[in-house]
Amino acid sequence: MRILAIHSEHGIHHSSCCIYDGDSIVYFLEERYSGYKHDSGLEHCLFNVLKTNLTFDKIVFSEFHNLEVSNNDNYDERLLKKISKSLPYMTKIALTEPKKFLDVNPENVEEQIITDIEIPLPDSVDASIATEWKKISNGSKKFILSYYKKYNHFPLIEYDSKHHRNHASLAFYNSGFDKSLIFVADGAGEVNFATAPDGKFINYKEIESVYVGDYPSSVEPIYKNFGSYEGHDYTKEITRWKKKYPDCEVVFGNYMGIGFLYGCAAIHINETMEESGKVMGLSSYGKSTNNSYIKNDYYVNTDLFNCAAHDFLPIFAPPNGYSENFKYKPVHENTPTQIGGPETIIALKTLPLQKIITKTNYKPYADFAKDVQLQTQEIGANLIRKAIDKTGIKKVCVSGGYGMNILSNSYYVKQFPDVEFYFEPLSIDSGISIGCALYHFHKETGDCTSRPVKSISFHGFKHDVTSYKGVDASLQDIAKLLYDNKSVAVYTGLAEAGQRALGNRSILFNALNVDAKDIVNKIKRREWYRPFAAVVLEEDAELYFDMGRTKKNLFMTQSFDVKTDLIPGVTHVDNTCRVQTVSEGYLYDLLVEFKKLSGHGILLNTSFNLAGKPLVETPKQAIETLNTSVLDYLWFEETGQLFS
Ligand SMILES: [Fe+2]
Repeated sequence: MRILAIHSEHGIHHSSCCIYDGDSIVYFLEERYSGYKHDSGLEHCLFNVLKTNLTFDKIVFSEFHNLEVSNNDNYDERLLKKISKSLPYMTKIALTEPKKFLDVNPENVEEQIITDIEIPLPDSVDASIATEWKKISNGSKKFILSYYKKYNHFPLIEYDSKHHRNHASLAFYNSGFDKSLIFVADGAGEVNFATAPDGKFINYKEIESVYVGDYPSSVEPIYKNFGSYEGHDYTKEITRWKKKYPDCEVVFGNYMGIGFLYGCAAIHINETMEESGKVMGLSSYGKSTNNSYIKNDYYVNTDLFNCAAHDFLPIFAPPNGYSENFKYKPVHENTPTQIGGPETIIALKTLPLQKIITKTNYKPYADFAKDVQLQTQEIGANLIRKAIDKTGIKKVCVSGGYGMNILSNSYYVKQFPDVEFYFEPLSIDSGISIGCALYHFHKETGDCTSRPVKSISFHGFKHDVTSYKGVDASLQDIAKLLYDNKSVAVYTGLAEAGQRALGNRSILFNALNVDAKDIVNKIKRREWYRPFAAVVLEEDAELYFDMGRTKKNLFMTQSFDVKTDLIPGVTHVDNTCRVQTVSEGYLYDLLVEFKKLSGHGILLNTSFNLAGKPLVETPKQAIETLNTSVLDYLWFEETGQLFS
């Protein structure tokens, strides 16, 4: 069975994914084509889907704009219209799809569509699809019609925006576990609206969830913490949830979750929530203070923040806007406290925002970041502990944007020595389409086959590099260049689907070089406080790192204490390192060659992109990046061609 899932929620990380008999075969991330990191929009995702010439049995749309349809018993047209009017930004990003999809052409899909015009369901289509047809956006309808025009075949369609469940499904089906707990935390998952007594709408959103996953398609919540407003009566919503999931603990009344708190720390250093990884890097420079940002073991203390705003989502947008040059402005007419910009929404009351973090002003921000790191990981561990105590299940998957936090992941492993963990490498929203597709595949087929993920290098089309001629260079030549402290970008195969480069789109450097961080930071134009990851021969990992009970870390989802002073290039200020272990492939062979020269089978490995840009996708982009940076070399591994 072939299923296509399309993710266009929240205005970030939009993607499409097709799975065939349980394996991912096509995956497109909008940012890789538009060139805007974390981008919204679907024009490239959808156009590329049509270009594959694949037909589908079912197409699932995970969209944002119809959010209230999916989960709200009290749905009415009035609400949709009101939200559409008062949140033009949200409407725009949700409907950011080709205007002329029937004439699919990547050159003329720049114009975006915002329209109230209803696109009718074709007469020839089974009326049973009508309900779902009504829920999906006009852009999606146009896509279906263009698909129909091309193949004269109408697949099953379904609207499904169960954001946290899709995060959870991805981790569960990738984990290889037969049955497991799944801990999901992010800035915001599915957003719903409740009606206040005065008739105004008030939103609430998934912030932390715990699920139990079981084959074929049981991914059921046992804990839901909804970001919501203290003082508002959510009795109706709680009742509805409890009716649907009697064993689920349902919490309302805390607007911020741990993902949101982390995003708050990012805002303080002039970053968006999507760049929370920078906070993680900065936290290692900080010292814990006596400030507590949490209460009652499980919740963020929202009293400390200016977070009483409904319109939180625009803070996801990068400072300079997306490709549509979006500029943030407060828009919700029902917002009780009018807000002036993203910074005032969730700023800590006691710490001014900082434009640039320098080596002289960083300390209070690093200390704040340290507290945020320690306290959010504690909440994460508390939630995992509670779920284990409740169910007795000792296999745990971690997903959602907060799952990108390698420090927290490593903390859980130490805290729960008898628990088996799987950390989803595609835990940010770009993985939602894959999780959604996998869930629907198992639901439709009843398939119970376990398929643990083996590689995450499966993005986009395969690019032909044979026409690019540099000079011939062997693996040994590349090892020698690295030994001579040259920076080498490697391009091979399909790009990594995630943000972390694992060898297919990587910049490599000598980890033994004491100046490595400064040199590579200059190439990538990154902030001074950010660390670099290492790739190491699996059998040698223990020589450099205190790996504990972890033997393999294929996807860089954990960090480890460094045991030696031999690798300053990848040792962070707190003596930790994010590690990728390898046991096969060209990268393994390259490390073996490097070891022959240096005595060490370890290299610095960072993603092949420049600051603020998505991972390099095409060979042309690879050449351009080489030419516009101080990178020394680019190597096309498949043809052995070297460029400088
Ligand atoms: Fe998410």
